[in-house]
Amino acid sequence: MAFYETRTCLCFDDVLLTPKYSEIDSRHNINLTATDVMGRPFFCNDKKFSLPIFASPMDTVVDEKTAAIFSNAGISPILHRYCTAEQQVVSYKNVINQLHASAAPVGAAIGAGEFSLNRMIDLYDAGCRFFCVDVAHGHHKMSMLAVSTIKHLYPECFIMAGNVATLEGFDALANAGADAVRVGIGGGSVCSTRIVTGHGTPTLQSIIDCAESESDAILVADGGIRSTGDMVKSYAAGADFVMLGSMLSCKDESPGEEKIVDGVKYKNYRGMASASAQKDWRGKVSVTEGVDSWRPVTNSLGDAIATITAGIRSGLSYSGCEKLSDFYANSEFI
Ligand code: IMP
Repeated sequence: MAFYETRTCLCFDDVLLTPKYSEIDSRHNINLTATDVMGRPFFCNDKKFSLPIFASPMDTVVDEKTAAIFSNAGISPILHRYCTAEQQVVSYKNVINQLHASAAPVGAAIGAGEFSLNRMIDLYDAGCRFFCVDVAHGHHKMSMLAVSTIKHLYPECFIMAGNVATLEGFDALANAGADAVRVGIGGGSVCSTRIVTGHGTPTLQSIIDCAESESDAILVADGGIRSTGDMVKSYAAGADFVMLGSMLSCKDESPGEEKIVDGVKYKNYRGMASASAQKDWRGKVSVTEGVDSWRPVTNSLGDAIATITAGIRSGLSYSGCEKLSDFYANSEFI
């Protein structure tokens, strides 16, 4: 295809949502429970998902302490895989022991390679029923094989897979048996995939494209979501959930290195394919597709989550919607 025939795609900053007539008395009445378009909640086994948000399986976002905070606040955390299977199993058990009865489901990331099934089975034996097949380029036969194998052996498990950028990739993982697919390649705030490989799509466009899928798989918008405005645009474009990295990083309780510069505390937030993360988890560096960042620590996770839920409620109110299931059909992009 010649360059002048390329498709024009949209990113978050290209669009806004038109404000609409509203009859909502109070934003507190807006229900943020994740549901399908029919208003039915999503389940992992017998556990109900709560807020339409996942915390990304990254070592500067989710550890045992923050996983418990996220889950108790209604955000489903996914324990990262950049540790031994034994360490991940211990973490899973420790997190589960700390949770309230109504806490959101806790997931565990695994790879798609040959040892991932052993890790998955160890986690399954520890009680985990939510697995994320966590691969940078998820539209790949290895990911599809991992998903179909787990679904065949353990049909009761909730399986998330990704990442993909296209409808074709979304449907491939959905048809392999994924219950949820992570959508977005190259858009993450600490991602350098576009610079290193020349590949990627704007996350908003990938959401719009994948929302055309006829499968029932849950669409998880992932990468480049910088604000509650971007979250609201993601839901309006057809995302059932969003996955957050940077917005849930560098808080008081966040894992990761910290340093004080001129009296200000900074924490590290890094891509899992950054040189420093690769050195830490496998002792060597191959291609780097992520970067390190240092951000000032300004508040606690509790404050950040309260700000996020208030922002989404406000967003829905501007479209006159009392629940997420009404939002997709009633929001209008310009
Ligand atoms: P953020 O919310 O914009 O910070 O993006 C978080 C997302 O970036 C994660 O959920 C992953 O999909 C993606 N990601 C994490 N680490 C890397 C990396 O090293 N390179 C590319 N993408 C990454």
